[in-house]
Amino acid sequence: MPKGSLISDIGSMQLESPLILASGILDENGYTMRRMLEEGAAAVVTKSIGSTERAGFTPPVVVDLGDNLLNAIGLSNPGIEHFKEEISIAKGIGKPVIGSIFGATAEEFAYLASRMQSYGADAVELNLSCPHVKGFGSEVGSDPSLVEDIVSEVKAKINVPVLAKLTPNVTDIVSIAKAAEKADALVLINTVKAMHIDIYARMPTLSNAYGGLSGPAIKPIGVRAVYDVYRETEMDIIGCGGISRFEDVLEYMMAGARAVEIGTALKTYGRAIFDNIKRDTIRFLESEGIENIEEIIGAAVKK
Ligand SMILES: Cc1cc2nc3c(=O)[nH]c(=O)nc-3n(C[C@H](O)[C@H](O)[C@H](O)COP(=O)(O)O)c2cc1C
Repeated sequence: MPKGSLISDIGSMQLESPLILASGILDENGYTMRRMLEEGAAAVVTKSIGSTERAGFTPPVVVDLGDNLLNAIGLSNPGIEHFKEEISIAKGIGKPVIGSIFGATAEEFAYLASRMQSYGADAVELNLSCPHVKGFGSEVGSDPSLVEDIVSEVKAKINVPVLAKLTPNVTDIVSIAKAAEKADALVLINTVKAMHIDIYARMPTLSNAYGGLSGPAIKPIGVRAVYDVYRETEMDIIGCGGISRFEDVLEYMMAGARAVEIGTALKTYGRAIFDNIKRDTIRFLESEGIENIEEIIGAAVKK
């Protein structure tokens, strides 16, 4: 292994670095996903796809809070039937493409997962965590027995790794993580339920009133979730939430993450973010005399 190696693996998926594009950002289209892979992402996660086409909520669906974002897009997506082509295009350069799916029942998740696998997805990410759509997401992801059923049904249907993406909008994320223990890895965290008020209209700015906060403001919440789950379980963890610099990646990894997903920072730093973070991380590893990035996973955690 060369000094400063960034090679990481999640289940059977080998990643050239721990840096993955998060779901929902520049990933509803095969060409934009491919572009992110060409620009240095080790893998991409698709926009969350459901059984049928959804238009999502009416605007406004995003509030720009500087480096942070508040969104309630409403799981808009073209539906699984129309997504095959996008996966094949994204897979064109040979790096892993992770299919994100959402549903209301274990059967629906299992159906969507087998479709994603048949399209060639290298792993399937279960969105158990969208904070703003009734009947999906957080409501599903805060019920431990439903989480357990969904993960078991999906695992029984597909062979590629299953990633369970959890919500921070629960009292005890460790108990939800344990309910998802059959998954090959956990993704921690999705957005944090939040609100913005339009003071002139005297009402919430988003048409849905509630939205999900992302960006640097939520990083300490994500790092804490990773730390707690790493300490209490043996599961592989992918960290997510507020990552924009190499220091953020190292914080998540020292809290126990094997890899990370990056979303909102693309808005501020653009596509060069993957290569910039890789370069800075290699410099850090070399200056600290670390041969392989895996050595730092969980380094800050007392088990
Ligand atoms: C505009 C937008 C759309 C998103 N759509 C999805 C989605 O479809 N599925 C999902 O699991 N997460 C979705 N997310 C959440 C992100 O994948 C990520 O978990 C969250 O934004 C925290 O990471 P970040 O701070 O790096 O953005 C979305 C986030 C944003 C900002």
